[in-house]
Amino acid sequence: MVNAQRRLLLSSALSLLLPRMAFSNERNQGWQPLPSGKITKIAFGSCAKQWEPQPIWSAVADIGPDLFLFLGDNIYGDWHGEKSFVPTAESLSADYRQLAQKPEFIAIRKQVPFMATWDNHDYGSHDGGAGFELKEVSREIFLDFFGEPSSSPRRRRDGIYDARIFGPEGQRVQVILLDNRWNRSALIPDTRSKAEREALGIFGSMGHIPNEDPAAALLGEEQWLWLEQQLRKPAELRLIASGTQIVPDQKGMQEWGNSPFERKRLFELIEQTGAQGVILLSGNVHFAEVSKTDEGPHPLYDFTSSGLTHVNETYPNMENRYRVAGPFVEQNFGLIEIKWEATPGPVVHLKALNVDSAAGFSYQVELGDLSKLTGQTSWQK
Ligand SMILES: [Fe+2]
Repeated sequence: MVNAQRRLLLSSALSLLLPRMAFSNERNQGWQPLPSGKITKIAFGSCAKQWEPQPIWSAVADIGPDLFLFLGDNIYGDWHGEKSFVPTAESLSADYRQLAQKPEFIAIRKQVPFMATWDNHDYGSHDGGAGFELKEVSREIFLDFFGEPSSSPRRRRDGIYDARIFGPEGQRVQVILLDNRWNRSALIPDTRSKAEREALGIFGSMGHIPNEDPAAALLGEEQWLWLEQQLRKPAELRLIASGTQIVPDQKGMQEWGNSPFERKRLFELIEQTGAQGVILLSGNVHFAEVSKTDEGPHPLYDFTSSGLTHVNETYPNMENRYRVAGPFVEQNFGLIEIKWEATPGPVVHLKALNVDSAAGFSYQVELGDLSKLTGQTSWQK
């Protein structure tokens, strides 16, 4: 309680100090209101270099989703293409301003409502976690940019996590955005040689090994408690989104596999709460794929889309024993299409689309299969 009050005081003080340059903190100024009716199309994506052209927003606009989920590296605040640096309030604000001025982004903002969480680069620290000193400031700038009202509980939480439920009973879609930065314990660097790592199918220079300490945090206790409460709310389809991948755990990149106890805890929480219809969403890796695991109470798919402005040709070669679709290695965004009226039951299509709205892959999931009770989902009871 004392901590919560301290945070509230600190964030109020910060909001007076921070520069209010190009954006207001009210959602209705420049952002579309969140949808109120049935949801059939949700688009999402991650990793957008604010200094590069962003033609992919026109492809998103052509699809006309009900909602867009921005899943991190929404700007690159600690890196502008050369050497990493420590951002300031002014530099972060300037980076968001650069995004806000992109013509394609201006257009999509006028058409599609957004929800957003962050990953490392928009948080403002490459391997950033709980120890990032600018996090209170970064939270204010992030929430200001995305039009979060000044009264929002997100401004007082230990992180920017958020959740909403859309649509009528029987066709409810719950969107849960996690914060995997604010409370995360320090990562353990992979000190194995390049040759050893490559023999394991791990490429790139910034690897991490799993932290086997059960006390190592990813979400933090307040967020876990909040997440449990969200998962107990009724919904037919639940999208749980994280900046980093949840199911794939072999890449050694920043991923839930760095925190194996937290990864298992998520699967166990889904089981304990009886939450059905869960699909996981993620970004970060600079290509698109769908992964599937049987570690949860029902098949759990992790649909990854990254990046909106750039891809990496090497990362898709890394091992992923869970992959069932992809890799798709073009600039891409993800699309979740829900056919509520399909027979014998609703069907969800997971598609990775490129700058021409062409599908790199399309993977079909029966909503009835995302249930412990095969063939009996909550809307059929
Ligand atoms: Fe990225």
